[in-house]
Amino acid sequence: MNKFQKKLRLFEQQNRLRCLSQPSGIDFTSNDYLGMREHPKLRHAALEALHSGMPVGAGGSRLLHGNCEQHIQLEEYAALYFGSEKALYFATGYQANTAIFQALPTRHDVIIYDSLIHASSRDGIQNSNAKSIKIAHNDLNACENALKRICNSAETIWIAIESVYSMDGDLAPLEDLQKLAINYNAILIIDEAHGTGIFGETGKGLSEDLSYENIITLHTCGKALGVAGGIVCGSTEIIDLLINTARPFIYSTAPPPMQAYLTKIALEIIRDEPERRKKLFQIIELCKTLLPVSEINSQIVPIILKDDRIALNIAEILQNAGYDIHAIRPPSVPEGSARLRISLNINLTEEILRNFSICLSEQLKKEAL
Ligand SMILES: Cc1ncc(COP(=O)(O)O)c(C=O)c1O
Repeated sequence: MNKFQKKLRLFEQQNRLRCLSQPSGIDFTSNDYLGMREHPKLRHAALEALHSGMPVGAGGSRLLHGNCEQHIQLEEYAALYFGSEKALYFATGYQANTAIFQALPTRHDVIIYDSLIHASSRDGIQNSNAKSIKIAHNDLNACENALKRICNSAETIWIAIESVYSMDGDLAPLEDLQKLAINYNAILIIDEAHGTGIFGETGKGLSEDLSYENIITLHTCGKALGVAGGIVCGSTEIIDLLINTARPFIYSTAPPPMQAYLTKIALEIIRDEPERRKKLFQIIELCKTLLPVSEINSQIVPIILKDDRIALNIAEILQNAGYDIHAIRPPSVPEGSARLRISLNINLTEEILRNFSICLSEQLKKEAL
């Protein structure tokens, strides 16, 4: 057995082997919370754009030939829409997060980050020259203590959080965190991956009512918006600094113009069709009475099972019963917190939810959970 096979065998023995499979069954997994991927306006716009001659690829990086009118129009629209001075579009949210942390904090800076932030932010932090401090999840005291400790030595302090946590579905105390950031002259980086399109009066995210004072927001476009990409919103100098120093931006082919074009249309749909958001919140409310969990804060509902094997077993039984749901295991979540991640979307009917809940409850009972 060679070393690659040994590594794979080890994953298998630990119940950590991951395999690709095509989705099948009723969707309890995707991040297409608002059913946007199949929106007729988006399909129609894509066909029309191709017919009218929109190039398929950008042909180069944004700084060299790849800067298309669709990128510029999206960024201008996004800055207006989200209320920031400027915006910058990346091919994926992952790329945007790695860019933010690699490019902005310098070696005299400190990044304070929530223990549950996404792998893309962590990878960016690892690539950064700044020191970093991990704090307990959603713990304002821990955040303030860290700020107190470093406020005299750090040149700039960055605080990295998510608005809606991707694997736990709970919400960050954004207003309090922004107050702390302002008091300590820190910059709050808010990853709105699971907030954009869903939260806020008009779907701009959980940060919708915050002023752009001391904050940078990241709005991913492949989840509730149903397309792909990541839009970073911030001050003019922050965005210009990213254009000048963010390696994932500089050294990569620009996203296809079609992707930018459709993302702009998706933002317009979010603005024009609040009924999608309302429907999702009705489903969330219904699930509070149906699902066997004590707390539901958003469209993401974790069923923490701790043990990888149990999570895999229950996921498999639910899959066989016709539901597309998966076990999430470490390292995607902390050790000992394997879970099912239920992801709600507007295509789920009351009947589907009731049947799913019965099936899930039976399995949890069998495992004496
Ligand atoms: C919180 C969070 N940030 C960033 C990303 C990366 O976004 P993308 O899928 O657009 O690369 C994800 C994706 O799962 C996420 O959950």
